[in-house]
Amino acid sequence: MNFKNQFILITGASSGIGKRLAIDLAARGAVIIACARSPDRLEAALTEIRRTSPRSTAIRCDVGSRDQARAMVGKVLGDFGAIDILINNAGVGMRKPFVETPLDTLEQIMRTNYLGAVYCTHAVLPSMIARGRGHIVNISSVAGHIGTLNMAGYCASKFALNGFSESLYHELKPRGIHVSLVCPGPVKTDFNRSFADTTPKSPKSMTISPESVSKTVIRAIEKNRFEVITPRSLALICAFKRFMPGLFRALCQRAFRSHVSRRDKHVP
Ligand SMILES: NC(=O)c1ccc[n+]([C@@H]2O[C@H](COP(=O)([O-])OP(=O)(O)OC[C@H]3O[C@@H](n4cnc5c(N)ncnc54)[C@H](OP(=O)(O)O)[C@@H]3O)[C@@H](O)[C@H]2O)c1
Repeated sequence: MNFKNQFILITGASSGIGKRLAIDLAARGAVIIACARSPDRLEAALTEIRRTSPRSTAIRCDVGSRDQARAMVGKVLGDFGAIDILINNAGVGMRKPFVETPLDTLEQIMRTNYLGAVYCTHAVLPSMIARGRGHIVNISSVAGHIGTLNMAGYCASKFALNGFSESLYHELKPRGIHVSLVCPGPVKTDFNRSFADTTPKSPKSMTISPESVSKTVIRAIEKNRFEVITPRSLALICAFKRFMPGLFRALCQRAFRSHVSRRDKHVP
């Protein structure tokens, strides 16, 4: 696929994976519409994106608000006439026992990670269907395949995104619209900085760079791949879970037991 002059809307493009993707796709000739909430980081990202793609622009939007998501897509379609690729990447995380996580936090995670993708996709699709082409990319996580200790709200949002993507794939393929689902393991971005002291820690040997995720996403678009789990070691672990779910759960229990009991000692 040639990205030259393709209009690509990327949510969460001011940092981490989204920013890297924006810069890499801009370098391939795409016109990037970068979305995020905080204006300073968004402006800084746009400056870098425009070095190779001067027509690119940035738009402030909280994707968890259906009105803001609809208004953003309407503005982009009004300004550029089309969105060729939508990359639903905006996301927030958590690492806390479920019972200690405020319901507001759980709702915010679901609104951003799952409903954010739903709102943006719902707003973009009519124009893609009318043109008979387009590509929706959802950035999920290995946490969309494996329920992990202290990440119940996050895992739920990514499991939801995976089901949404698979269903959309079947609906949209006959209409000429591709859907890709990219599930990275731990990635070195700001996302994990606030969880540095929490357990369980992300395994260092499986931690990858935003550059590597960006390459994987671009390849998935070029080859119209539905799902990619990265790195490969985690893809194998997901396959192991699929074929031997009971054994996998037992091994997870053993691995997590020390974290749970260590915490319990501190509970009065
Ligand atoms: N890092 C990892 O270990 C990892 C692993 C697997 C999957 N992922 C997924 O990869 C995606 C990107 O994560 P990252 O690591 O690049 O995180 P990051 O560096 O924290 O970037 C997150 C981006 O999303 C934006 N964002 C957050 N909430 C938003 C909202 N409501 N509306 C619009 N934009 C919003 C942020 O900007 P503002 O805060 O300014 O809005 C920022 O641009 C997420 O979906 C995450 O779940 C990450």
